[in-house]
Amino acid sequence: MDTREFNKIAGAVLTALLLIFGTATFIDIQMRHKKPAKPGYELPVQTTTAAETSQPAAAAGVNFQEIAGLLQNASPEAGQAAFKRCSTCHTPEKGGRNMTGPNLWGIVGRPKGSQEGFNYSAAIKEKGGEWTYEDLANFIHNPRAFIPGNKMAFAGIRDNAEIADLLAYLRTLSDNPPPLPSN
Ligand code: HEC
Repeated sequence: MDTREFNKIAGAVLTALLLIFGTATFIDIQMRHKKPAKPGYELPVQTTTAAETSQPAAAAGVNFQEIAGLLQNASPEAGQAAFKRCSTCHTPEKGGRNMTGPNLWGIVGRPKGSQEGFNYSAAIKEKGGEWTYEDLANFIHNPRAFIPGNKMAFAGIRDNAEIADLLAYLRTLSDNPPPLPSN
């Protein structure tokens, strides 16, 4: 192989290398140029609005829609059993005496704080209105939250089915049980 031939081959190799590296560098520069604002792939992201995440009745108290639904098939007998937790302070029967808490005969539809001879807190009397199913559900669920400052020392019942059974039982404490809430 003479020098001229060697030069030709060397020249070809250099040209090839130049082409390869040159192209690679050129592509690299192009890629850098198009670098996305955020590295990585764009993934579809689920965005939930504030309205969707907040639970409608949570702040206001119980989910009464659900309790009203459960109430349609609730068991007064199960409610009577659950009432054991209340009977340390409340009598349920007609003409029953007031104890730590007032007698609860006719409580559904009774004006709040109206049982004769019972010394209510101002908080209950100032709440006003009658004991609707919804108010009773909220009170039984969390007495302190529903009527701040009342003197019923009871933590409340969190289970909606148990509240529904209790309401079904309280409803029977009447000569004329009021209709169930329409659902
Ligand atoms: C530790 C005693 C105690 C227990 C247990 C208790 N209560 Fe009471 N309850 C009271 C007192 C005291 C009041 C009066 C509160 C006031 O005047 O602030 C009251 C008031 C009430 C009232 C309002 C009555 C009215 O005439 O306005 C209802 C309804 C009621 N209780 C239901 C219940 C139910 C249902 C339970 C069981 C799940 C229960 N309570 C458990 C002591 C109790």
